[in-house]
Parts: sequence; structure tokens; C-alpha cells
Amino acid sequence: MSSDLSPIDRAKFFAARRATDYVENGMRVGLGTGSTAAWLVKCLGEMVRDDGLNIVGVPTSLQTATLARDVGITILSLDEARWLDLTIDGADEYDGNLNLIKGGGGALLQEKIVATASERMIVIADASKQVDTLGAFPLPVEVIPFGWQTTKTLVEEMLIGLDVMGRQSTLRMNGSQPFVTDEGNYILDLNLRRIGNAQQLSLVLNQAPGVVENGLFVDICDAVVIGYSNGKVEV
Ligand code: 5RP
Repeated sequence: MSSDLSPIDRAKFFAARRATDYVENGMRVGLGTGSTAAWLVKCLGEMVRDDGLNIVGVPTSLQTATLARDVGITILSLDEARWLDLTIDGADEYDGNLNLIKGGGGALLQEKIVATASERMIVIADASKQVDTLGAFPLPVEVIPFGWQTTKTLVEEMLIGLDVMGRQSTLRMNGSQPFVTDEGNYILDLNLRRIGNAQQLSLVLNQAPGVVENGLFVDICDAVVIGYSNGKVEV
């Protein structure tokens, strides 16, 4: 780790390094996406190279697949691995019940499929991701491009009567074009400000025909490893 990292990056690094304690020889490991997960992949790459760690990784995005290959981790697709021992991934928010908002990096669909196929899911994060109630971070919802504006209106209408504070959503952009996920879909970011009932909201959102998946991870995460810039780590 370089000494000129920002405090947040140091915190992410320390969380990722501690999470490698959960990884054992022979494991099939789901590799998350984002800046915190990238630290994990780099740490695991070092362990493969220097300590002879023998694992296979299942990446949750093209970005993570490229990094994992670069650092020398053998990767498989989920179809090849089928079931995983462990997934380690970042999060945009986590609450006291280990419910999460994910998808800030746009990889929520593969991340949710991989985490659900895993015996355990460990989240790695800096303490800024901890919240009492989910929802300050806009909730990413992956939608198919066909009819996305209709889906957006439908989703906003379906929020009426649910325990949320806002209903506005915006199409995620990449410059002047819609952001496109690895699966060829778009992302709507829902500005809800407060999510009173994550489980109910997740079920409702996934009933809209154009919605592929949403970024709420309910009852999926088993533990959060929280890193601090001074090197302290809490689980
Ligand atoms: C990507 C994700 C990321 O895990 C989440 O956005 C956290 O990213 P970072 O570690 O860069 O803060 O869900 O889809």
C-alpha cells in the first residue's frame, strides 16, 4: 500500500486486507466490484503469487475480471463454478441488520447473483457506508433499455404508499449517453432518502416488468468488515 493514499482509500485497503482472513485454500470466491473490492483482488493476487494461495475467483464484472487476471487469480464464470464458498464485495450503504444498498458501480445484477450463489457473503467497507436507515444513497435499479421511460414512470407510481420519503428517479448517464451495464441494461437511480422496509420495497420493485433487479441486498450479507484509516478494523 502506498503512503500517499487518501484516508478513505487507506480504510478500504485495511478492510479488504482483513477480509482475506476468510479465504482458505481450495475455495471458490466471488470477487466483488468497486474500489474496495479492487483492493481485495490485489491482496488476493499477492497471496496467490507470494504465499501459494490456491483459489478460483468468480468476478462480478468485466472490470473485476480484468483486474483478477492481471494479478494472477484463476477465474471461472459462475456457470463453470456453479456454487461458491464465499463472496467478498463492497457496498454503498449497510444498516444494523446487514441489509445493503449496492450498485453504485453498476454491477448489482451480477453481484447479487454471485452473492446469492455463495455460502457466505462478507462486505468490506469504510465506516462512512454505515447508516441507521438505508436510502440516503440513491437506490440503483437495473432496467432493460426497451421502454425504459415507461418503466421509470411505473416504478415511481409503484412507490406510492410504501415507506419511502422520495420518489424521483434519474437515468444514470455516462457522459451524454445512458450508462450501460455489463448485461446491456440501463440503471435508474431512485432518490428515496429513506427506505423504511427494504424487503417490501425490493419485492415491489422486482414486480415491474422492465425491472431486471434492484440494488437492495436483504438477508444476503453475513458480516461487514469495517476499515479505518488508522489501520483499525472492526467486524
Ligand atoms: C458496485 C458496487 C460497489 O460495491 C459499491 O458501489 C461500493 O463501491 P466502492 O467500494 O468503490 O465504494 O456495488 O456495483
